[in-house]
Amino acid sequence: MPIANAMRAGLERGSWIRKMFEAGIELKARLGPQAVFDFSLGNPDLEPPPEFLDALRAAAISDEPGSHAYMTNSGYGFARQAMAQKVAAEHDVPTQADDVVMTVGAAGALNVILRTVLNPGDEVVVVRPYFAEYSAYVENSGGALVVADSAPDFSLDPEAVARALSPRTAVVIINSPNNPTGRVYPRSDIEALASALSAHALKTGRAPYLVVDEPYRDIVYDGVFVPPVLSAYPESLVASSFSKTLSIPGERLGYVAVNPACAEKALLVSGLATSNRVLGFVNAPALMQRAVAASWRAKADVSRYGRRRDMLAAILDGAGIRYARPEGAFYLFCEVPAGGPATVPGESRDVAFAMALKDRGVLSVPGVGFGYPGWFRLCYCVPEATIEGSRAAFEETARAWNA
Ligand SMILES: Cc1ncc(COP(=O)(O)O)c(C=O)c1O
Repeated sequence: MPIANAMRAGLERGSWIRKMFEAGIELKARLGPQAVFDFSLGNPDLEPPPEFLDALRAAAISDEPGSHAYMTNSGYGFARQAMAQKVAAEHDVPTQADDVVMTVGAAGALNVILRTVLNPGDEVVVVRPYFAEYSAYVENSGGALVVADSAPDFSLDPEAVARALSPRTAVVIINSPNNPTGRVYPRSDIEALASALSAHALKTGRAPYLVVDEPYRDIVYDGVFVPPVLSAYPESLVASSFSKTLSIPGERLGYVAVNPACAEKALLVSGLATSNRVLGFVNAPALMQRAVAASWRAKADVSRYGRRRDMLAAILDGAGIRYARPEGAFYLFCEVPAGGPATVPGESRDVAFAMALKDRGVLSVPGVGFGYPGWFRLCYCVPEATIEGSRAAFEETARAWNA
């Protein structure tokens, strides 16, 4: 038994996002990069803003003693202070530095939270379609994933979430702006969810934590507003990062912020800092904390993503492929066109369609990877030439699919 059974099962299930990303590397080597249109991975193609690069240069040449030493597991005080200021403005609560733990990306933030609050068998409710890695993160901490449906337009369905709650529910995770749908949950959805969670707490005596996973908070279009969540429900935490908004996913910097109104706040923050250590992260990267604390107000040029969204949407319109129009993030979630060849037993239509696209050089992610078969995801944080070049492949695949 060279590896654990759970890991073997995980490898077999695989992550479709990673599988497609790796298929892209192979296709590019075989066909040449011009013949491959890779919409698989949410790897921002915009360079980080100059404010971040300047702050990084300044941090890198600093010879202040101890700059590269171990630190407290929750991170530098000045970085936590900066994040507290950010979260206070975004979530309308008086967050302080002590309410924040710096983490290794949003992925680190989510794992640290789950490790801190889950007892074996506790349930974590997520909304379908959901970021594929949630199931692995929940499993990492011995929890059980419970899936609630979203509304047909992919907005939040608070009643569906309420039906998914049980006395074992420890956490509800929401993600807005959403990966893969691009939906931004409006204030009315957040308030209805908060009421459902409060009613559940009254009934069962257990208030689930509401975790807001929001690495795309600043990436919104057409003036859409991302409402505060922490001010709506006390037992809440933010998990976020600068991977998407500063275009630095490889640098792995994120944070958890605990609602100052949370009943067990001090205990929770101590647990989060300890989880950071015992999960092996120890602390968030020192150099990045210094660079981001000095540049977090800088923004990616979202209008460039907006242009890419519109270009790709026009190509899909031309090919007759329907999609949910994104209000934020940089993904188009598309419906597999009706018709198509008979699939082999056990293979869903979205996998067959993603393979048909791949045969024409287009890499997408089948919806089954997000718990939502029948749909597929395209990530449009790619160069405009990639989008423009993919037109014929989409049109031909859709035509052949319907033939
Ligand atoms: C919804 C969502 N949550 C969390 C993450 C993880 O982000 P990070 O790279 O900052 O760990 C991602 C990354 O794509 C994501 O899409």
